[in-house]
Amino acid sequence: MIHSAKMIVDKDFVIGKVDERLYGSFIEHLGRAVYGGIFEPGHSEADERGFRRDVLQMIRRLRVPIIRYPGGNFVSGYDWKDGIGPADRRPKRLDLAWGTIEPNRFGLNEFVDWAKAAGTDVMWAVNLGTQGIDDARNVVEYANHQCGTYWSDLRVTHGYPDPHKIKVWCLGNEMDGPWQIGHKTAAEYGRVALEAAKVMKWTDPSIELVACGSSSLGMPTFAEWEATVLDHTYDHVDYLSLHTYYGNPEDDTPTFLARSLQMDDFIRSVAAITDYVKAKKRSNRKMYLSFDEWNVWFHSLEADKQLDPWQTAPPQLEDIYTMEDALVIGCMLITLIKHSDRVKIACLAQLVNVIAPIMTENGGTAWAQTIYYPFLHASVYGRGNALVPLVQSPKYDTREITDVPYLETVAVHHEEQGEVTIFAVNRSLSEALSFEGDLRSFEKCEVVEHLVLENDNLKAVNTSIRPNNVVPHSAGDAQAEGTQVQARLSPASWNVIRLRVK
Ligand code: AHR
Repeated sequence: MIHSAKMIVDKDFVIGKVDERLYGSFIEHLGRAVYGGIFEPGHSEADERGFRRDVLQMIRRLRVPIIRYPGGNFVSGYDWKDGIGPADRRPKRLDLAWGTIEPNRFGLNEFVDWAKAAGTDVMWAVNLGTQGIDDARNVVEYANHQCGTYWSDLRVTHGYPDPHKIKVWCLGNEMDGPWQIGHKTAAEYGRVALEAAKVMKWTDPSIELVACGSSSLGMPTFAEWEATVLDHTYDHVDYLSLHTYYGNPEDDTPTFLARSLQMDDFIRSVAAITDYVKAKKRSNRKMYLSFDEWNVWFHSLEADKQLDPWQTAPPQLEDIYTMEDALVIGCMLITLIKHSDRVKIACLAQLVNVIAPIMTENGGTAWAQTIYYPFLHASVYGRGNALVPLVQSPKYDTREITDVPYLETVAVHHEEQGEVTIFAVNRSLSEALSFEGDLRSFEKCEVVEHLVLENDNLKAVNTSIRPNNVVPHSAGDAQAEGTQVQARLSPASWNVIRLRVK
């Protein structure tokens, strides 16, 4: 049996303009993300600053517009001052978040330099775990104030006469989580986030701030946390954060592929809570969302338990991603695009070695994991106006999630380029899907390319030895006649149908 499904889009029915920061990512001082990932002095690919050129090249290809740094859980115990000034005089510290030793050879200025080389902006998270409002305003002054004050002049003496102009700042990380250093109740966090927000914006009024939402939809404090935090901070912050990671520990692929429906629900719920607070405050400002941690994370959980503590840059959270993980990432990307009216920033967590699309060997090669490809396609072709998708698809049920459409899809219209790109996942593991795209408001469509990521083995992975085991091909069969597009979407496949439109 072959399934059939249909999508109708109209260029005048727009969800929103996709903010390019939807394709952001995240680098934490964790495992080998920094040391041995982006920074490895002495490596044959390292430049004079120790930045790995092979990794930079792979990141530039992804066109990542913004990268969150330096954590994550790490930031809640981090003193940013340990990472500035002469590198050989910086202290080594215990990192209590991940049970490692942080050498501080790489810090704020190195990251800003590295981000420039990667063609990306910095999204800096301040520590609201062990530190407070004074440190939050000082780091803004150090990074963004021109000169003539203690912290800005210190930056100048460190060799950076021009301010870094870091625009987006996170007010701590996952402060609702008991695992967090300096974990707080919603009221405690709301108060400190508000006071930090005030002094940070007084120091530099051009910055944008992200308040911490819940660490996941499953947190017992979810919803009440958001409402309370926003009660305190609504008028002073620009975004509320969401985080989510999915896994397939029980090897239940149909449910795993349906997880993005929960992500969809999470976004809708958080948007509703922010609107509730907006109404309560009679505010005219809409609160936008920053989905600043999202990914698949479960493969490495057991291995991480075996690691000895107090190592420097051990191989932590090194998930090796399968074909089916790439499909989940594809569905999550489509979900984010479908909410591009509300979600303005999203960060694939993370970028190198740690639950990452890019892997490296210390002293060796770098390669792309399976999940690199849907992220690449969405980032490169998913910019423009996201169009409202009217979708008719057969559905399936799992024990946990019901009414799961086999077809997950959205289209993005790049007006200037005269292109529409359709992203589509066929969730069926056994049946191909006969896809019909109806682009009735255009005059004519022509297929430029139909990219497909598929593999007979859903557990297939890429490794340093077989880096091209799972890679996309462009032999998809999409065809257009007038404004009607037809394609066969293979079982369990990620598809990118690029159309030239008039
Ligand atoms: O990305 C890995 C960790 O996941 C982050 O440090 C934390 O914020 C989240 O729990």
